[in-house]
Amino acid sequence: MRLPVLVTRASFPDIVNRLRADFDVTDNPDDTIWTQPELIERLQGKSGAMTAGSDRIDATLLDACPQLKAVCNIGVGYNNVDVDACTVRGVIVTNTPDVLTETTADFGFALMMAAARRITESEHYLRGGLWTKTGRYDMFVGGDVHGATLGILGMGRIGQAIARRGAFGFDMRVIYHNRSQLPAHVEETCRASYVDKATLLRESDHLIVVVPYSADAHHAIGAAELKQMKSSATLTNIARGGVVDDEALAVALHEGSIAAAGLDVFEGEPRVCPRLLAQANVVLTPHIGSASVSTRRAMASLCVDNLIAALGRGPSASKPPTPVNPQVLMSALAQR
Ligand code: DGY
Repeated sequence: MRLPVLVTRASFPDIVNRLRADFDVTDNPDDTIWTQPELIERLQGKSGAMTAGSDRIDATLLDACPQLKAVCNIGVGYNNVDVDACTVRGVIVTNTPDVLTETTADFGFALMMAAARRITESEHYLRGGLWTKTGRYDMFVGGDVHGATLGILGMGRIGQAIARRGAFGFDMRVIYHNRSQLPAHVEETCRASYVDKATLLRESDHLIVVVPYSADAHHAIGAAELKQMKSSATLTNIARGGVVDDEALAVALHEGSIAAAGLDVFEGEPRVCPRLLAQANVVLTPHIGSASVSTRRAMASLCVDNLIAALGRGPSASKPPTPVNPQVLMSALAQR
């Protein structure tokens, strides 16, 4: 019997088609965003799901979908999935790490540079027909990136990739704060020094937030933290909405307590805090950090590999390449 699986968001058809060889696939080519009850309804009887950040996989959903055995999420982040609730119910969770590291680091760096050098703000000025005489000496002056101090909050794979860009590409001094200090040999590979959070806030010229979302990380950058930053500093968030307090950031940008910001993620996205929309000194992008063609294809492909392996139908694999809760996998494999 072919197991039924659900693909909750539209993806590359040729990659999704790989699932059709083994599974009875229900997909969502129109890319409708389903409500939680709609998602539960569509998951009835499904053995596995290819999910995305917009799907909330929690205890209520799991209890309503007892046949579900695998939740394969596209993205390195999986804060939309209650992993503990999955684990106690024997549901395998997978994500798509590594394949997006360099692409997302490129984007974080680009967003930081755009904020520092006021690229979108000045482009709007030009497109708006306001460039009527050649540049004044102080027209759109911003902050230098080369030689500046780059601060990184959250020093996982993407944080380290950003550090390497800063240190070796732009001769920046790189400081970071993380739950734990990295081993010395890893710090050396990205020429980064561990500092406490207060030092990070105080000394960064450009602070990039890459910490995964968790209850502890909620509003890790809020009004109090923004006040500790330099008035010339920029803040870039490519982690998750909610790690930065967007309302507090809008106030800080308005009052000039920091110079500029770059945001790819938002609290409650796709809604964006109206006060941020009204600020010229913030570059806003719609959660596209990993959005290069090859990386988005690699993420989808890894997700499909995970689903095929998690449900044990693939000719070549039996263990998902990137499980989040491998302990479930061991007992699931034992029971097959
Ligand atoms: C990730 O991989 O976590 C990206 O933010 C896409 O959700």
